[in-house]
Amino acid sequence: MLQLVFFLAALVATSQGDHVAHQIHLLRPRSGARKDDVPGLSCLSWRLAVETNNIVGWKTVPKECESYVGHYILGDQYRKDSATITNEAFLYAKSLKLGGDGKDIWVFDIDETSLSNLPYYAKHGFGVEPFNATLWNEWVNKGEAPALPESLKLYKELLSLGIRVVFLTGRPEDQATVTTTNLKNAGYSSWEKLILKGSSYSGKTAVVYKSTERRKLEKNGYRVIGNIGDQWSDLLGGLSGNRTFKLPDPLYYIS
Ligand SMILES: *[C@@H]1O[C@H](CO)[C@@H](O)[C@H](O)[C@H]1NC(C)=O
Ligand SMILES: *[C@@H]1O[C@H](CO)[C@@H](O)[C@H](O)[C@H]1NC(C)=O
Repeated sequence: MLQLVFFLAALVATSQGDHVAHQIHLLRPRSGARKDDVPGLSCLSWRLAVETNNIVGWKTVPKECESYVGHYILGDQYRKDSATITNEAFLYAKSLKLGGDGKDIWVFDIDETSLSNLPYYAKHGFGVEPFNATLWNEWVNKGEAPALPESLKLYKELLSLGIRVVFLTGRPEDQATVTTTNLKNAGYSSWEKLILKGSSYSGKTAVVYKSTERRKLEKNGYRVIGNIGDQWSDLLGGLSGNRTFKLPDPLYYIS
């Protein structure tokens, strides 16, 4: 009898979960009443809206999506998504006729692009906890962030094509030394420039800071042929590069 009650309860839960207005197509066949199916689906929609910059300016990951985001970012899908993007970037780079004067550059963001802060975020709720600058800077100052392997691979491929790399990061200038050491330890051996956020930009958005710095690069004769970052603010604001590549990041949003 008790089993029957559970079965019926599960059935009701499933059929309620299945009710989606104007449904186009089931994303995957669902059988049974696994508890995370419905929240899982809405967290996927949230992630898609975040990645496409339809949801902007958000402060934290919705609490009910912590487990979903954690599984995504630590699992295969994040890596496959990243590989799809960096492969595309390489195919594009390979197709270009370059100037051959050393002025063709590719802009790389650092956090969640060149380096991964997953060891930090795994301990801090995958973006559910509000940002804590003290704890964040403690982590950054350890200089132990691993590379995002797909970005490191792209970096090496670009260098082999004769494209130079400029790192453009929202990290402040007082983190220059630790960032240099961290990049080298993670496998990034050389670069044309490492640009950190100077105090003159304090209070300015990342969009303003990064587009202004790209303008300076162009003024100095560089051509930004490609640009890769995990935030839309890496890619918007003008002089964004001939092509931009947006890596996934459902952990945080920077304007
Ligand atoms: C940041 O974390 C530290 C250490 O846990 C804590 O003492 C501090 O109050 C936190 N700061 C904020 C703004 O939450
Ligand atoms: C990048 O875009 C500029 C402006 O549209 C164009 O002149 C240039 O040829 C492009 N560079 C490459 C490498 O495609």
